[in-house]
Amino acid sequence: MATTKRLCWYVSLVSIIISMVVWNSKPYITESLSRNPVDITSNMSHVKNENNQSVLPILSKQEKKKEKYLVYLCDEKKACGGWGDRQRGIVSLFILSLVWKRTLKILISSPCDIKPYYKPTKEYNWIFTEEELKGLKGKRNTTLEFMHRCKPLYDTYNLNSSDIAEVLYIKTNCVSFLPIAQKYAKFLPAYLKNKGRASVFRESWNRIMIPTDKVLSEVMKIESSGVINSDAKKSGKELVCVHLRTYLTENLTYDCGGFPPVAVTKLWNFIDGHFHNKSRIFVATDHLGIRKSAISKYGTRYIGSYASNVHPDSMRSNLTLACRSQESAYVDQLMLSKCDVLIYYRKSGFSIHASYLKTEWRNIYSIMRNSKSTFSLVKEN
Ligand SMILES: *[C@@H]1O[C@H](CO)[C@@H](O)[C@H](O)[C@H]1NC(C)=O
Ligand SMILES: *[C@@H]1O[C@H](CO)[C@@H](O)[C@H](O)[C@H]1NC(C)=O
Ligand SMILES: *[C@@H]1O[C@H](CO)[C@@H](O)[C@H](O)[C@H]1NC(C)=O
Ligand SMILES: *[C@@H]1O[C@H](CO)[C@@H](O)[C@H](O)[C@H]1NC(C)=O
Ligand SMILES: *[C@@H]1O[C@H](CO)[C@@H](O)[C@H](O)[C@H]1NC(C)=O
Ligand SMILES: *[C@@H]1O[C@H](CO)[C@@H](O)[C@H](O)[C@H]1NC(C)=O
Ligand SMILES: *[C@@H]1O[C@H](CO)[C@@H](O)[C@H](O)[C@H]1NC(C)=O
Repeated sequence: MATTKRLCWYVSLVSIIISMVVWNSKPYITESLSRNPVDITSNMSHVKNENNQSVLPILSKQEKKKEKYLVYLCDEKKACGGWGDRQRGIVSLFILSLVWKRTLKILISSPCDIKPYYKPTKEYNWIFTEEELKGLKGKRNTTLEFMHRCKPLYDTYNLNSSDIAEVLYIKTNCVSFLPIAQKYAKFLPAYLKNKGRASVFRESWNRIMIPTDKVLSEVMKIESSGVINSDAKKSGKELVCVHLRTYLTENLTYDCGGFPPVAVTKLWNFIDGHFHNKSRIFVATDHLGIRKSAISKYGTRYIGSYASNVHPDSMRSNLTLACRSQESAYVDQLMLSKCDVLIYYRKSGFSIHASYLKTEWRNIYSIMRNSKSTFSLVKEN
C-alpha cells in the first residue's frame, strides 16, 4: 500500500511539473509541420553492429585514457519509473553528456534488458562493452540518484568538475531537459538551440535510440492490420490513435488523477463526430474496461492495443512477463507516434512523448481530466 501511495504521489508531482513546463514553455515552442526526418523506419546504415568492433572509432591509448563517461543507469536497485520517466532521464543525460563532454552510455537491465528493443546509432553508441569498462574508475555502487530531483543534477552540484570519476553513473527521471538545453545552449549543437520541449526531445531521442527490427515489425504488423478504407484514407485521418492512462490498475481504487473511465463514451462520441466512420481505431490504455468498451464499440475497426499494461518497476519478479510487457510498451508508443490522428493524455509522460515523436506535427489533440467524470480536449495545432 505504502509503495503504491508513493507511486501515486510521484505520478502526480511529476505530472504537475510536466504540465507546468509544457504550459510555461508554450510561447517559446517553435514547431514546424515538417519534422526531423529521422523517422522510426529510417534505415539501418548508421546503426552500429554491437559485436562488430571494426566500426568503433579507433582511439589511441592516450585518447582512450581521457575519455569520460556518463551512464544512464536503470538496474534492479530501486525504482527508475515507467517508460516516460526513463525517456526523460535518457534525454536529460544525453544533453548533459554534450555539455560535460562525456560519452553517453545507457544501461537498462530492469526489469528487462533494453538492447533487444532499442539499439544505438553510429553517432552515439551507448552500449557499454566489457572492453571499455575494463580498468575504468567509477563503480556502480556510487551511482548518483536524482529521482524527482532534477535541479541539483544540472544546477546545484558541479558534476562538470574534473575530479569526478571517469564513469559517472546516474539514475534519474529528470523532467527538465528543456531548462538544461536553455541554460547550456552555448555548449550545444544548433539542433538543440532555441527549440521547444517537443523538438528538444525528438531531436535528442532520434539521434540516440533506434527501435530494433523486432519492435518495428510488431508496429508494422499492427499498422497494416484491419481494413483500410479508401475514403477514410482520402480524409487524411484514417488511423485514429488514443492513449488513455487512468492509473486505475486492478484493485487500486484511490485516485492518481488519470483519465476517468466513466467519461470514455464522451470520447467515442468525439471520435464519431470528427473522423471518418470507417477509420481504424487504436487505443492503448491501462484500463481493461476502457479496452473492452472500445472493442465492443468499434468491432473490426479496432486494431489494438491488446497489450497488458504493467508498470515496469513492479514486474521485476517475472522476467517473461516483464520483457513481454516492456516490448508492448515500446510498440504501443511507436504505434501512437505513427497515426494520422493522435489523442493523448496530458498527464502521462508516455503519452506526451508519443506526441513529441509523432512523425507529422498535425492532428494532435490532448485531453486532461476536469473532474472524476469529465475531461476537456484541446486541439494542439
Ligand atoms: C539510408 O540512409 C542514408 C543516409 O542516412 C541514405 O543516404 C540512404 O539512401 C538510405 N538508404 C535507404 C535504402 O533508405
Ligand atoms: C563489420 O562491419 C563491416 C562494415 O560494415 C563489414 O564489412 C564486416 O563484414 C563486419 N564484420 C563482421 C565480423 O561482422
Ligand atoms: C564499491 O564496490 C567496490 C568493489 O567493487 C568496493 O571496493 C567499494 O568499497 C564499494 N564502495 C562503496 C561506497 O560501497
Ligand atoms: C566544464 O569544465 C571545463 C574544464 O574546466 C570548462 O572548460 C567548461 O566550460 C565547463 N563546462 C560547464 C558547462 O561548466
Ligand atoms: C484483486 O482482488 C481480487 C479479489 O480480492 C483478487 O482475486 C485479485 O488477485 C487481485 N488482483 C491483484 C492484481 O492483486
Ligand atoms: C458513414 O458515413 C456515411 C457518409 O457520411 C454514411 O452514408 C453512412 O451511413 C455512415 N455509416 C455508418 C455505419 O454510420
Ligand atoms: C510469468 O508471467 C507469465 C506470463 O504472464 C506467466 O505465464 C507465468 O506463469 C509467470 N511466471 C511466474 C513464475 O509467475
